[in-house]
Amino acid sequence: MVTPPSTDTLPQSFDLKTYLSDRQKRVEAALDASLPLAYPETIYEAMRYSLLAGGKRLRPILCLAACELMGGTTAQAMPTACALEMVHTMSLIHDDLPAMDNDDYRRGQLTNHKVYGEDVAILAGDALLTYAFEHIARYTTDVPADRVLRVIADLGRAVGAEGLVGGQIVDLASEGDLEVTVDTLNYIHVHKTGALLELSVTSGAILAGAGETAIATLSGYAQRIGLAFQIVDDVLDITATSEELGKSAGKDLQAQKATYPSFWGIDESRRQAQQLIDEAKAAVLPLGADSAPLLALADYIVARTH
Ligand code: IPE
Ligand code: IPE
Ligand code: MG
Ligand code: MG
Ligand code: MG
Repeated sequence: MVTPPSTDTLPQSFDLKTYLSDRQKRVEAALDASLPLAYPETIYEAMRYSLLAGGKRLRPILCLAACELMGGTTAQAMPTACALEMVHTMSLIHDDLPAMDNDDYRRGQLTNHKVYGEDVAILAGDALLTYAFEHIARYTTDVPADRVLRVIADLGRAVGAEGLVGGQIVDLASEGDLEVTVDTLNYIHVHKTGALLELSVTSGAILAGAGETAIATLSGYAQRIGLAFQIVDDVLDITATSEELGKSAGKDLQAQKATYPSFWGIDESRRQAQQLIDEAKAAVLPLGADSAPLLALADYIVARTH
């Protein structure tokens, strides 16, 4: 029987802060280069306004980390990493629209529709979403076509009615519903946020040519960090300030959203998020010392303040 490595076999020196800032810089540069200004300028300006507004870049960073962990390179994964951020940015632009969460601030600046108008904001989201698929298909190099095709298909599923869109529609339908069940709450979180975070990890592994067992292991990790991520987002909506978040705090309560704290309270929500993170870390520990970035990123998800 193979004994899984204990945590003390992992590099003690892994420095998440340096790792994150290095990866963020590389992702920022790739995103900037991915979308030059062109005619018609208004749409490109609106797309770039939200895409390059900062943000933690967690989805691209997870994709790069999973690809490297499975023996691939960051170059192989970068177009997909950028596409994940394009899709995520689309979801934020649309989530903030008056017809949805009606938010004025995002990533520390006015929301897309506040600057460009709702018409342009809808189109900027559409253009980012479609360009994401084009970007993967056109710019992924040194990866066999069957892997790229699988990533494209999986991305479609993660974003569509079986994924993010499905979660968003149940989220909206549950506003003000005081009888939301825990199953519905979990459906919302797993789909609106978990699906894209799960794909962020599995896509990196697929591009690297990982086997099905490793992909399943990484799915288990990613599903848990994905759910924990939205639980923490819900908690921070109550406990953090708008300045810390770069978006208006306290909106969930105001809109009577179905959230973890509204169901379980803040302390129990934090406990459940921590438990998911512990389970996620236990899932990847057997992958050995190279899993250090994924372990640290899991911790970061619960410890983050914005
Ligand atoms: C916010 O996502 C929306 C959710 C899915 C909860 P992030 O917290 O990753 O936002 P950015 O990308 O850092 O701005
Ligand atoms: C957003 O959930 C999920 C997506 C954008 C798909 P929230 O509505 O909780 O995200 P924030 O709090 O506005 O960032
Ligand atoms: Mg929302
Ligand atoms: Mg919102
Ligand atoms: Mg939120």
